Amino acid sequence: MKNLKILLVFLYLSIICAQRIPVLNNGNENKSIDHIPYVASLRLDETDESYFGKGHFCTGVFIGTKAVLTLASCFYRNDALLLPEDVRIIGGTKFKFEEEDLTFSTILEDFKIHENFSRSSLENNIAIGYLHDAIPKDNAFVKTINRIASETATESVQMKIYGWSLSTMMYEESLHLLSGEVEIVSTEQCDTEHNKITSSTICAGPYFVNGCETDDGGPLVDDARGGTLYGLIDARPAGYCSKIITNRLGTYVDVSQFYNWILEYNRNSASCRNIISIIVLITLCIVVAQLQMVKLINIQNKKVWIY
Ligand SMILES: *[C@@H]1O[C@H](CO)[C@@H](O)[C@H](O)[C@H]1NC(C)=O
Ligand SMILES: *[C@@H]1O[C@H](CO)[C@@H](O)[C@H](O)[C@H]1NC(C)=O
Repeated sequence: MKNLKILLVFLYLSIICAQRIPVLNNGNENKSIDHIPYVASLRLDETDESYFGKGHFCTGVFIGTKAVLTLASCFYRNDALLLPEDVRIIGGTKFKFEEEDLTFSTILEDFKIHENFSRSSLENNIAIGYLHDAIPKDNAFVKTINRIASETATESVQMKIYGWSLSTMMYEESLHLLSGEVEIVSTEQCDTEHNKITSSTICAGPYFVNGCETDDGGPLVDDARGGTLYGLIDARPAGYCSKIITNRLGTYVDVSQFYNWILEYNRNSASCRNIISIIVLITLCIVVAQLQMVKLINIQNKKVWIY
């Protein structure tokens, strides 16, 4: 009798739990989700050279044909700032270790970290990487996100998160791009000892669906509105992601609070800066040429004077 009760409780719990698994493919190799074209994989170029996927260390979102949005903290490895050319950006790949026909790959030319980013408090944890090569126009698997939210996500709205290591109830890690369904909750609810929230943290539950370390910078999006980016996965403290036993809600950097900053530095992207440097170079040439001319005229004048 007692055993039967335990069995019934167990069955009941498994049904409840099974129904509550909001991760779509849950690591099953034959249940891969479709390409999410705006999701970028950030990789250490040198490590990724040994084999494709090994260098994956952070995630990002394509916001321009030559720009990827991610966390500022992603650019620090063992207390040192990475160099742009150390970072390879991969798009259009579902399986972490498999290069597909339309996989897009480039290194960074430069990056811009928010000027007020604090490594201790993790305030203003946002950065833009400028791609060396632009995303090809006709690549259906690699595209920029439709829209960046200009207003904070409202409570109890359902959203999606994407990443290669999302924590799920059953699996700790997947090799496939995973999708999780979350619901925005109030920040009061998640301001705990595990979640040191900042002034730009969004929280979302349930507590067992959130990003792990290498998902940092991955998207929190509202697909219903044609792909609107509301947040970037920020799994803190580093290396810690929720399992069913830990009571930690997912934390995200609210991109709407950086809307103007993103707009400014996305527009002022690498190509613009190239144009600016060309203009500066031309101006310099003209100045130098004129100085030379002045010199020449002076020499000629001198010559005239000598004669
Ligand atoms: C996935 O599909 C392939 C081919 O259809 C099959 O050979 C393989 O066994 C399947 N794997 C799993 C885990 O179901
Ligand atoms: C950074 O902080 C300073 C001082 O609080 C402020 O004046 C400046 O506007 C901030 N920069 C950005 C981009 O928010």
